[in-house]
Amino acid sequence: MSVRINPSILAADFANLESELRRIASADLVHVDIMDNHFVPNLTFGLPMVERLQEVSPIPLDVHLMIDDPDRWATGFAEAGAFSVTFHAEATRDPVALARRLRKKGARAGIAIKPATDPSSYLDSLAEFDQILVMTVEPGFGGQSFRESTMPHLRLVANAVRAAKVDVWLQVDGGITENTIVLAAENGADTFVAGSSVFHSDNPGLAIAGLRAAATSATHAH
Ligand code: DX5
Ligand code: ZN
Repeated sequence: MSVRINPSILAADFANLESELRRIASADLVHVDIMDNHFVPNLTFGLPMVERLQEVSPIPLDVHLMIDDPDRWATGFAEAGAFSVTFHAEATRDPVALARRLRKKGARAGIAIKPATDPSSYLDSLAEFDQILVMTVEPGFGGQSFRESTMPHLRLVANAVRAAKVDVWLQVDGGITENTIVLAAENGADTFVAGSSVFHSDNPGLAIAGLRAAATSATHAH
């Protein structure tokens, strides 16, 4: 099983995003956190920013929508060319209908759950999604500590994906370091978002390689 490392530009230097993107060119995807100051108490980028990032990024975009009413806004990000668009289960009226609309626009469709959200009700429709994101912190801010208490939900989703024999990526996001990535990989994650541990290091390329090595060895040990 392959492992993906997606650095989050929430931890990058916003005045130099193009050069920041070049520093993470060895990563798989660039994670772009969209926050609307309603679904989460923080505000980041909007669609025009994503359109411009899409033009200059050396790697594909993994858009994480932490916004209200993704049913209305999500497909715009797919139209902008995002490789993957993930919306929150807690914010959408009809996750399956939205995932289908995203796929129709040519994007991978992802569904995210906050730490307190029980994933059980989404496990019957796994084939409708390309990615499940189990948040390992409360969404809204970078630099928080990984919550080990989210591992049972991750394990539950991983077991369901395996049993259903579907090709769904299992993503974790929040507090991922060379230490915590091991636990997440052991519990079934294969796609890892890392903000601070990549962009706040002296050498993001080395940080990405370190995360990849740690996740790969933990994955193969199981
Ligand atoms: C948090 C965001 C994360 C954040 C991760 O709400 O969804 O993507 O950028 O940052 P770190 O890796 O610093 O926890
Ligand atoms: Zn995120």
